Amino acid sequence: MFKKLFKRNSNMGQSFSHEGEDLVMGEAIPTHIAIIMDGNGRWAKKRALPRVAGHHEGMQTVRKITRCACDLGIKVLTLYAFSTENWKRPKSEVEFLMRLPEQFLNSFLPELMERNIRVEMIGVMETLPDYTQRALKNAMKATKNNTGLVLNFAMNYGGRAEIVMAMQQLMKDVEAGTLTIDEISEQHISQYVMTAHLPEPDLLIRTSGEVRISNFMLWQLAYTEFWFTDTHWPDFNEASLKEAILVYQNRNRRFGGLKGEGTN
Ligand code: FPP
Repeated sequence: MFKKLFKRNSNMGQSFSHEGEDLVMGEAIPTHIAIIMDGNGRWAKKRALPRVAGHHEGMQTVRKITRCACDLGIKVLTLYAFSTENWKRPKSEVEFLMRLPEQFLNSFLPELMERNIRVEMIGVMETLPDYTQRALKNAMKATKNNTGLVLNFAMNYGGRAEIVMAMQQLMKDVEAGTLTIDEISEQHISQYVMTAHLPEPDLLIRTSGEVRISNFMLWQLAYTEFWFTDTHWPDFNEASLKEAILVYQNRNRRFGGLKGEGTN
């Protein structure tokens, strides 16, 4: 029943063989994986390409990782596609990034339907350009009855802004008398953030070597396992995702009190 997810290089600790992976699932596949997709610009720079070429390639990686997450039975994949801070970038780059959902969804929607994937979004929809809103809304509408993987784009998203909005709504409910201050609990706050209907992430991945969370899912990441890789997002692939999952599973095993039984 237990299939091995990833073959480890013998006695190499955190190193993994990427060939001949004899994958088996079984142990705790994370339900929700959140990814900070970083390094598109550096990927492009290394190749003497414009930054937007990195974003275009990053979009292909989104396709690849969505398929892989779906095949692995992950339930929610949240991708940080555009932060509230990203508006500070040059206008042409912002416009390119804003066109990506349209490009991605126009060509990928039939496969998303075929795979029973539901598109969702966290972030502020209203201040996105019309064409970005249209692409996201169409995809969300078309896939709303799908019951497989939730592909959740964090778009025009900021963790602090999300908490502010949640607090404003919560205070309105206090003012309206539907909630008292003493009743407010962690569970209540979880219901006011944008992921109220989703489980919290089990695993956060950040690519491209930075070791920070950059205002991403500040409330939701409280108990999440973090995994960082130097790989730039356009080079991230199925083996990288599986490597992250295996590390996550090993951490879980240790927390599960199995010390002395093959883990160190
Ligand atoms: C950060 O890399 C990446 C982004 C701000 C954009 C991420 C977007 C994608 C990967 C494509 C999204 C696809 C869809 C379908 C919405 P960076 O540009 O900051 O890289 P750098 O730190 O190397 O400059």
